[in-house]
Amino acid sequence: MNTQQLIDTAKAMVADDKGLLAMDESTPTCDKRFAKLGIPQNEETRLIYREMIVSTPGLSESISGAILYDETVRQQKNDGTSFVKALSDTGIIPGIKVDTGAKEMATHPGEKITEGLDGLRERLAEYVQMGARFAKWRAVITIGEGIPSRGCIEANAQVLARYAALCQEASLVPIVEPEVLMDGDHTLERCYEVTEETLRTVFDQLYRQRVVLEGIILKPNMVLPGLICSQQNSVDEVADATVACFLRAVPAAVPGVTFLSGGQSSELASARLNAMNVKFKSQVPWELAFSFARAIQQPAMGIWGGNSANNVAAQKALYHRAKCNRDARRGEYNTAMEGT
Ligand code: 13P
Repeated sequence: MNTQQLIDTAKAMVADDKGLLAMDESTPTCDKRFAKLGIPQNEETRLIYREMIVSTPGLSESISGAILYDETVRQQKNDGTSFVKALSDTGIIPGIKVDTGAKEMATHPGEKITEGLDGLRERLAEYVQMGARFAKWRAVITIGEGIPSRGCIEANAQVLARYAALCQEASLVPIVEPEVLMDGDHTLERCYEVTEETLRTVFDQLYRQRVVLEGIILKPNMVLPGLICSQQNSVDEVADATVACFLRAVPAAVPGVTFLSGGQSSELASARLNAMNVKFKSQVPWELAFSFARAIQQPAMGIWGGNSANNVAAQKALYHRAKCNRDARRGEYNTAMEGT
């Protein structure tokens, strides 16, 4: 383990008000999003789409790192340059999703446990050889009637910590992603409670597994009301609740908090991140950044629609969303920027 390298990489991932682009959708998830837009679902189309993304001019002005998927990390652009090299050449740090998905958890109806620890040490060594400098593992916690259970939170937290330890052993920065899902009709207060309990449990397990907190990135959900909750809180209320929750549960040694978007609209995700930075940037010990997939990619994917003739327009949309989120990190985003 090279501790200084871990710390330097983690800092670089959240430096200069930039953030991460998550383009690590598994094949089934990517195909599901393509299907909704009538885009053909095959390896060739996924390759062309992702080549369009990594070739976006100026992307590195707002994006510090990109999370790839096993299929993508092995692919090359049409000119023969690997995606990893293409990203690195523009100053974007390449990373890799290494979990193998959230599966139904035995004896825990409605809850999931993320798999992928078997053989992980060997897989990480291969990704390091390919040029990856960080990794990602996503755990999901579902809010519902009588859930989440302690058993589910503890099992996921322990697996996240064991993954993080293996990453650091390989000198890869682990992105630790415990996602409390926004599906459902629960209130913001309930999301706060569950997020706080989840984060406290995750950090307890990271400590037990001797993970160096200065060399991780936390990728959490924002504290939000459920998607179909009748009371939808204001942008400021979300910002206040999220930062209050994290001040209680996230140690100051963590260099960066890079939020997932989780199904929020692109504009709301930017507005909420902006509000957090306007109100709290100078008061919190960690960078408040982003690691969005849908909230950066969705408009571009819609414009692209499987047709390379739309590449330039799609790249403009991608660039715009990445820039809005960099502006949000500076507390300089406003909705007037949309539609320009
Ligand atoms: P979303 O921003 O679409 O939630 O995706 C982030 C991510 O990487 C989920 O694992």
